[in-house]
Amino acid sequence: MRIGNIEIENPVVLAPMAGVTSHPFRAICKEHGDVGLVVTELISSMAIHYKNQKTYGMFDWTESEQPSFCQLFGADPETMAEAARVVVDRGATGVDINMGCWVPKVAKTGAGAALLKDLCQAEAVVKAVVDAVPSVPVTVKVRSGYTQGQLTAVKFARAAANIGAKAIAVHARYASQGFSGVADWDVIAQVKETVGNDIPVIGNGDIETPADALRMLRETGCDGVMIGRAAMGNPWLLGQIRDAIAGEPIRCEPTVEDRVAVARQHASLQVNVQGEGVACRELRGLLGHYFKGVPGATRLRGTLAKESTLDGINRTLDEYLAWYQSHDHDAQLQEALGN
Ligand SMILES: Cc1cc2nc3c(=O)[nH]c(=O)nc-3n(C[C@H](O)[C@H](O)[C@H](O)COP(=O)(O)O)c2cc1C
Repeated sequence: MRIGNIEIENPVVLAPMAGVTSHPFRAICKEHGDVGLVVTELISSMAIHYKNQKTYGMFDWTESEQPSFCQLFGADPETMAEAARVVVDRGATGVDINMGCWVPKVAKTGAGAALLKDLCQAEAVVKAVVDAVPSVPVTVKVRSGYTQGQLTAVKFARAAANIGAKAIAVHARYASQGFSGVADWDVIAQVKETVGNDIPVIGNGDIETPADALRMLRETGCDGVMIGRAAMGNPWLLGQIRDAIAGEPIRCEPTVEDRVAVARQHASLQVNVQGEGVACRELRGLLGHYFKGVPGATRLRGTLAKESTLDGINRTLDEYLAWYQSHDHDAQLQEALGN
């Protein structure tokens, strides 16, 4: 998959996720998941304009995670252009425009998915950003449309490609659906049919397994797949999807020991970046994902969610591992199954 001047051999993309895809998790996905492209969480162009220091702290991409795109949101073309110049000056390898966020704080300003209700404005934003940062590719992430049943992604994709967007990612749900219902991959197929080979189409929505990713590629003809929720606490999935697409043997599931080690690494990176207080609060919603489906997960998640120091997190993980390794879980499972 080629996005502008960047050749991306591995068409597996980590979805932008607010509160999740900051530097620590992006780096972990690169290292343990073998992902082709990562994207920051959405960043406010207005906050960049006002030089908000917390927002500047979100420019946390590093060499090790390249290519790393910065996702911006905003409804004003000039402010978006200015913000794009700032993040490219700070080393972002591409700029992604958010046209999918439906939360009122964003949509009521006319930004995010609300741009899909006003395609003239949406096109003006894309044009302003494309013109502002000619040295890097500009991409757009859209929903199927704003109001359920009013499909705008297809028409908009054609316009965005004509204006100079270098890829389009489609989360195949309407903004008014939030996360409810099932993603309608047929919309991705329609977008691909419309833009043809002019720009890559990255399909998104409800991929949970390598088989899902292969099915999306087959059924829609899309060029790349974007994985969000299923990658939380499971960076290995991204590598497994890469293997499946490459037609190679799919790498093994992580062991419980792997999960503990990467949760520990995640906690430590997050503390380095954010300081212990903020990091430990954020980690409460993140670390539990590493232990979905493992023995003793409920109790472990409950304990991790109360920890407020890195020492506490590491101690809890040590105790869990000691407990896990001292039990024969296979035998217990066989006994429970009556074998
Ligand atoms: C916690 C969370 C935060 C998200 N934040 C963003 C965001 O900042 N920008 C964006 O374009 N989409 C955001 N999304 C949407 C995802 O990028 C993705 O489109 C959606 O989760 C569907 O993909 P999935 O089924 O693989 O999770 C977010 C989703 C979640 C679950």
